[in-house]
Amino acid sequence: MNGLKVARAILLACGALLLVLGLVIWTGSGDRLIPVHIALGVVLVGTLWIICAVAARSGIATGTVVLAAAWGALVIVLGLVQEELVPGNWHWTIQVLHLVISMGAIWWGRRLLQLTVRARSLGAQDPVSGSLVASSSSR
Ligand code: HEM
Repeated sequence: MNGLKVARAILLACGALLLVLGLVIWTGSGDRLIPVHIALGVVLVGTLWIICAVAARSGIATGTVVLAAAWGALVIVLGLVQEELVPGNWHWTIQVLHLVISMGAIWWGRRLLQLTVRARSLGAQDPVSGSLVASSSSR
């Protein structure tokens, strides 16, 4: 298994565990699982950031990589402050937002991995900007 496959496996495993733990927490009977949930969330976002670094080195557009990395930061910040946000009847909107934004980190990780694999198989980078410039049809 190469590094990219390991990163993908960690991303998906953490995502699945976080979803299960999150749903248990949501039922109100899993508050003691919150620290485990947060630790796994940090591993997930750390993995996303490692994928971002590999993607940047593989010539993926800087804007895409920065957006993905910033999304990871947003997941952590929202995860840590969500309990304080919109207390009362409408708190469920924050819970749904947390779920959707957090799942977005998995989407970003998978997307960057796809782009990185494609970039590596094309093996073509602009020597000046480092960005991917060639497609298979142009060669
Ligand atoms: C793919 C990643 C994640 C998924 C699918 C996920 C899912 C969920 C779900 C469904 C809940 C229960 C509903 C709620 O209270 O919002 C929850 C709760 C929670 N999550 Fe996450 N989460 C993820 C990542 C994170 C991260 C990265 C953090 C923090 C760094 C975090 C912190 C929390 C906390 C503190 C709660 C309890 C909130 C409360 O009791 O009000 N989660 N999560």
